[in-house]
Order: sequence, then structure tokens, then C-alpha cells
Amino acid sequence: MAAYPAMSTKNAILKLDDKEIVLPIVVGTEQECGIDVRKLRDETGYITFDDGYANTGACESKVTFIDGEKGILRYRGYSIEELAEKSTFIETAYLLIYGELPTAAQLSTFKARILDNSQVHEGLRIALSGFPGNAHPMAVLSATLNTLGCYYPDLGTNERTHDLAKFDATAAVLMSKVRTLAALAHRSKEGEPPVYPKPGLDYCSNFLHLLFSQPNADYAVHPEVARALDLILLLHADHEQNCSTSTVRMVASGGANLFPSVSAGVCALWGPLHGGANQAVIEMLEEIHASGDDGSKFIADAKDKTKQVRLMGFGHRVYKNYDPRAKIIKAQCDKVLKVLGINDPLLAIAMRLEDAALNDPYFKQRNLYPNVDFYSGIILKAIGIPTEMFTVIFAIGRMPGWISHWKEIAETPKQKIHRPRQIYVGNTERAYSPIAQRS
Ligand SMILES: CC(C)(COP(=O)(O)OP(=O)(O)OC[C@H]1O[C@@H](n2cnc3c(N)ncnc32)[C@H](O)[C@@H]1OP(=O)(O)O)[C@@H](O)C(=O)NCCC(=O)NCCS
Repeated sequence: MAAYPAMSTKNAILKLDDKEIVLPIVVGTEQECGIDVRKLRDETGYITFDDGYANTGACESKVTFIDGEKGILRYRGYSIEELAEKSTFIETAYLLIYGELPTAAQLSTFKARILDNSQVHEGLRIALSGFPGNAHPMAVLSATLNTLGCYYPDLGTNERTHDLAKFDATAAVLMSKVRTLAALAHRSKEGEPPVYPKPGLDYCSNFLHLLFSQPNADYAVHPEVARALDLILLLHADHEQNCSTSTVRMVASGGANLFPSVSAGVCALWGPLHGGANQAVIEMLEEIHASGDDGSKFIADAKDKTKQVRLMGFGHRVYKNYDPRAKIIKAQCDKVLKVLGINDPLLAIAMRLEDAALNDPYFKQRNLYPNVDFYSGIILKAIGIPTEMFTVIFAIGRMPGWISHWKEIAETPKQKIHRPRQIYVGNTERAYSPIAQRS
């Protein structure tokens, strides 16, 4: 394969006053083009202004490709549809982290490493139990992921060559213990005693066991439930340069090791505009139910421009035709509700909203389809996972993505620290006034 980004034979010409600046054009493997402005400030004194980086390519990346208009999502070149059908979360995590699908031997080693690391140090478990009962599990997860590094001083030294040499071990520690820490955060909040991981269980069955088993009674894992959870994690495993992944890359660009980098990713994901949407779906359903509505009034309100109401879990900033992940998860959602024989009024409302929105011209004309958060919220509720834990599940799923982006930064020779510029709009220079003279 040719080296990318390639330089196009075309250039962009920027006219500033009477001067013409020739800007090269870079082209990615999917023929996405970008105007290269790296030398613009040196040559002209101007920076580019792009509030929120909505139209800025901040890096080159080989991990994930998205075409929102066409509804395409690919990890390392493999379509999300094919991975969802044929792969598992752990195999897909390997693909994201190492760039290739594993051989049977590689997968078995990767799984064994994850299994070997599933316990956390007793000191960390005790520290975790000291969080107040009302602490949000995302705060606990972020804090404990960073603390986890203190138990592995040799894995997180901030010395790049050394940290990269230990990368396999660090990736396994994080992939495994994020799940254990998440379950402990939940149990500690519920005042439940810890249970320990079981060697014979796969990644998701073990997570369900860690969440729901009691010391004297094992939780019976239904295979369709474990499969649904696996699918949710796989579908969330990476999503290009989103807010939390960009945060991980930003922290990593300063030279930080993996532990603080992914801990920062959890903080970024916590925000309601990012990872909190599946929680918002359930809160919306609860609100509809509590008001005695069957969903019809809420749909009418969502279409009424005089009201500030939106159908949560519908529409997407990037996917403008459909969310490819939603199509996949919907089928599993139907299966889970069936096998669990769920009879929850909230789920009945959800199905009514889905049906109405899919057939209503307002939503059809605006391409407002249910997104992945709509169905993942419903599945997680059906499984019995508390709403506050939804974003935590997202964080477990996103872990391999964060790890692969950290690696990409760490392995880039001459990696620059990420340091955007700004347009300053504050006060111009003024003299310091002594406190007695201030009103
Ligand atoms: C995701 C979201 C922020 C995308 O926003 P966007 O791409 O900027 O889309 P816009 O806000 O420009 O909306 C386009 C039109 O659809 C309407 N619209 C968008 N999402 C809507 C929703 N969920 N319910 C009702 N109307 C919606 C807008 O009012 C607008 O209508 P108009 O053209 O008549 O003014 C938005 O769809 C939304 O708020 N969805 C609900 C929250 C959610 O599920 N977020 C998780 C995404 S993973």
C-alpha cells in the first residue's frame, strides 16, 4: 500500500490581501481530502479558526473509518456489520489494538492474559469501597483506573520506549481490570460484598457474574444476554476522533502513560453530550410513563418547534442516513426482550416511539432514525443494569479503542504535543489596580 496521507497533485490557493498562498492537499486511503495548513501561520501569521474542531483533521489515524453520509463504520478496514456477525468483543479488541485479526494462538494468548489479570489488588478494592455510596460510578471508574497505575509502576513510567516495550501487559491489565473495577463500583454502591472473577467464563459472562452473583448464589447467565452485552461492547469499541478518544490522544501526546490517558477518556465520556445518551433514553421513557402518556403526546411535542423536546436516542451528528450500529443492535434487542420475557411498561413505550418515529413523515424527512443508544439503553435496562452504569458499560466497550489510539500516538516518531491555538477575545492589556481602589 502506498504511504498515506499522500500529497495530491492539486493545491488549494488562499488569497490574503494581494498575496496568494498555495496550500497542499493531503489525501487519505478512502480518498478523503484535507487542506494542509501546517505552514500557514509561519508563512502568514494567520491561524485557522474552527470552533470545536468540527472541520479539523487533527491527526492521521489507521484505526477507524466512518462515512456518516453513507452509514459506513469500519474498524481497521473491516465493516462493523461483518465484525458484529462473525467476531466477538475480545477478538475485535485485539484487531483494534494490534491492527490485524489474531491467529488462533494470538487470540488464545490475549484471552489468557486478560483472564490472568481479572483480579484487582486488595488495596485497590479497599480504596474503592471508601468512596461515598452516592458517588457516580464514572467518577469511581476514572479515579480507580488512574490509581491502578500506582500498582504497576513498571508499566506506566512515562518513558515512551519502556512503556511501549511493556505495552502487551498494560493493555491486558486495562482490558481486564476495567471490567472488574466497574463491577466493584456498582457493588460497592449497592452495599454488596465483592464476588471474584471465574476462570471458566467468557469476558461478558464474567462481567455479568461480577455484577449480579451473590457470594452464596451464582447469577445464571443467559447466552443471549451475554451475546447482547458482547455486541454492545463491540459496537462501541471505537468511533474515530470522538470527544473521549481525542482526549486520550491529547493526554498521550504530552507523554503520559496509558493509565492516566484512559482515565481522562472516562472523564470525557461521562458528559451527557457524549456517553450519557443511552441513560437519557431511559430517563425520557420514565418521564413519559410518569406523566401517564403512552408516547403519543411526547412524539407530538418532539415535532412541535415551540417546545424544547427531543426524542432521545434519535438522530446522530455523524450518521445522516442511518446509524449502522443501530441496525445490528436492534435485532439483538428483539431477541433479548423475547428470551427474558420482559413486560416493562417503559419498554412498551420505547417500542411505540420507535414504531411511530419510523413511520412518521417528520422523522422520515429529517432522517431521524433510532441510534445505537436507543437500543443499547433498552437492552441494558432489560438485563437489569442500573441506569447510572450505562455510561460505564460504554467505557468498557471503548477501552480497546482508547488503547489503540494511545498506541498510535506513542508509536509515532517525533510525535508533537497537541496544542491548539485560539482567537483571544478577552481584555487587552490594562494596569493592575490596588485592592483599595477596586469597586
Ligand atoms: C444527535 C443530534 C444532536 C444531532 O443533531 P444535528 O445533527 O445537529 O441535527 P439538528 O439539530 O440540525 O436537527 C435537524 C432537524 O431534526 C430535528 N431533530 C433532530 N434530532 C431530533 C430529535 N431527537 N427529536 C426531534 N427532532 C429532532 C431538529 O429539530 C431539526 O429540525 P428542523 O430542520 O425542522 O429545524 C440530535 O439528533 C439529537 O439531539 N438527538 C437526541 C439526542 C441523542 O440521541 N444523542 C445521541 C447521539 S449518539
